[in-house]
Amino acid sequence: MNKILAIHGSPRGERSHSRRLAEAFLQVWQTTHPDAQLTRREVGRAFIPHVSEAFVAANFYPEPQARPLAMQADLQLSDELVGELIDHDLLVFSTPMYNFGLPSGLKAWIDHIVRMGLTFDVTQDSQGIAQYQRLLQGKKALIVTSRGGSGFGPGGEYAAMNHADPHLRTALEFIGIDDITVIAAEGEESVPEAFRRSSDEAERQLRDLARTF
Ligand SMILES: Cc1cc2nc3c(=O)[nH]c(=O)nc-3n(C[C@H](O)[C@H](O)[C@H](O)COP(=O)(O)O)c2cc1C
Repeated sequence: MNKILAIHGSPRGERSHSRRLAEAFLQVWQTTHPDAQLTRREVGRAFIPHVSEAFVAANFYPEPQARPLAMQADLQLSDELVGELIDHDLLVFSTPMYNFGLPSGLKAWIDHIVRMGLTFDVTQDSQGIAQYQRLLQGKKALIVTSRGGSGFGPGGEYAAMNHADPHLRTALEFIGIDDITVIAAEGEESVPEAFRRSSDEAERQLRDLARTF
């Protein structure tokens, strides 16, 4: 695990808790891995375009090897994001929960990196049933998330309403990344003292994890 890709989903900068917590992990990780390479991908404060009609046409062009030049241009950003993903072994996501899901920049990033023939593939077995190949094996992911409310974690009162980190986990598993750790701070919009405790505990876990990851 020598190349780490940090993907930041919050539109907030210094005020972002998910970003601050991910930085705590990265700081320790860089100290324990002085030769490692850290790349950052901003999807919260930089614009990641939504999927367009041109993107869909180019992405699902029947003969990818013979894709016309104009269509190749429509996939340029997606190709760059996929290449970056393939090139790193450890992925660190920082993201808030927005309306029970992911912020739209991170959702757009997912739409660009789940690419048939590059990150997953589909073939048919002898009975014509689709068989999926998950092409990105051997990577690890850490999802650091912050939520305004509480009880969205596994076993929590509102766990069934959490479509944020579970969505990201499902998309990553679909392309082969199934070694995934989620660390959350909860309650930013409720009792300040409770959030401070949750955030401190998340930070402690992240610092510990960085020493063993
Ligand atoms: C547009 C928007 C939607 C939000 N939706 C939710 C939500 O559904 N559930 C929740 O617990 N918090 C929600 N929040 C609160 C954020 O998850 C919370 O403030 C989080 O700590 C922000 O992360 P950040 O500090 O990294 O930006 C929302 C905040 C915003 C701005």
